[in-house]
Amino acid sequence: MRLLVTGGAGYIGSVVTALLLDAGHEVTVLDDLSTGHRDAVPDGARLVQADLHEAADVLEPGTGAVLHFAGKSLVGRSVEDPDEYWHTNVGGTLALARAAVRHGVRRMVFSSSAAAYGEPASGAPLRETDPAVPTNPYGATKLAADHLLASWARAYGLGAVSLRYFNVAGAHRGFGERHTTETHLVPNLLKAAAGQGERARVFGTDYPTKDGTAVRDYLHVADLADAHLRALEAVGPGAHRVYNLGTGGGSTVREVIATVRRVTGREVPAEDCARRPGDPAVLVAANDRAREELGWTPERTLEETVGDAWGFFLKREADHG
Ligand code: UFG
Repeated sequence: MRLLVTGGAGYIGSVVTALLLDAGHEVTVLDDLSTGHRDAVPDGARLVQADLHEAADVLEPGTGAVLHFAGKSLVGRSVEDPDEYWHTNVGGTLALARAAVRHGVRRMVFSSSAAAYGEPASGAPLRETDPAVPTNPYGATKLAADHLLASWARAYGLGAVSLRYFNVAGAHRGFGERHTTETHLVPNLLKAAAGQGERARVFGTDYPTKDGTAVRDYLHVADLADAHLRALEAVGPGAHRVYNLGTGGGSTVREVIATVRRVTGREVPAEDCARRPGDPAVLVAANDRAREELGWTPERTLEETVGDAWGFFLKREADHG
């Protein structure tokens, strides 16, 4: 199938693009390279450097589906500068959805987020039917785009899927996390393990969890990517479906640190710090819907996720110093 992948120069978009090419699809990547990297676009895909708002000019005739990864994803920044978030994540999705319908594209798979749910009422795994009450503009824009796709499906016959990612980590097929502003736990721990700069920080040690640190559901990017290929086939015209993508299990920050120590064989100097504002105590996915309807099973352990992230980190160090 001919596909458009927005954000295919980014972390998750590049991994999924590599797998789509393997599966025999023809892929055009639309990316403005604001946070993505030209050399992260897998060989065999065509890169068009453009803004999401120019999607109508980029979409080629005969495109069967769009996978939409492009977007702004820093929670803290979305609070300081929501304009950029609404403009790109919602305005950009609107431009893309309009272009898709105009060009007769039948399917869209969208990168939504667990942030759409906001602060869970309990520490129980989140279901797609749970209330979605975002606590920051980033989550609000992802939820708004989910709603946009639902209405596009109903009115214009698009088949749309919103994939709500929990905490994605790891690397696959030579592609991994390379954020200029790195806020995520796993890459920050790897930097500390490598002795680069400061000690890692543990944000919050007084949560009501088993060791006082926050619990998250860490999913290997290869498992996440696999769900996208399944989602592409999943819904028919006129339907929109939301799926949580997580392992269904959680790890505390201290458990992730212990895993990084084991996997890297390094020290990982870390200091206890105050909570990061807005961080919930526990965020874990109930993934039954994705298992049942997509036939998806996340297979990699946290050990493998951290191991692959570390392999990617070391390779980049070796290649770029
Ligand atoms: N953490 C640390 N030290 C760090 C970085 C993070 O202790 O240096 C902690 C955080 O407080 C949190 C956990 O590790 O408890 C994971 O933090 P990340 O920043 O890696 O991920 P988040 O859970 O905050 O964010 C993820 C996605 C966001 C999404 C959010 C809610 O990356 O896009 O889940 O769904 F908005």
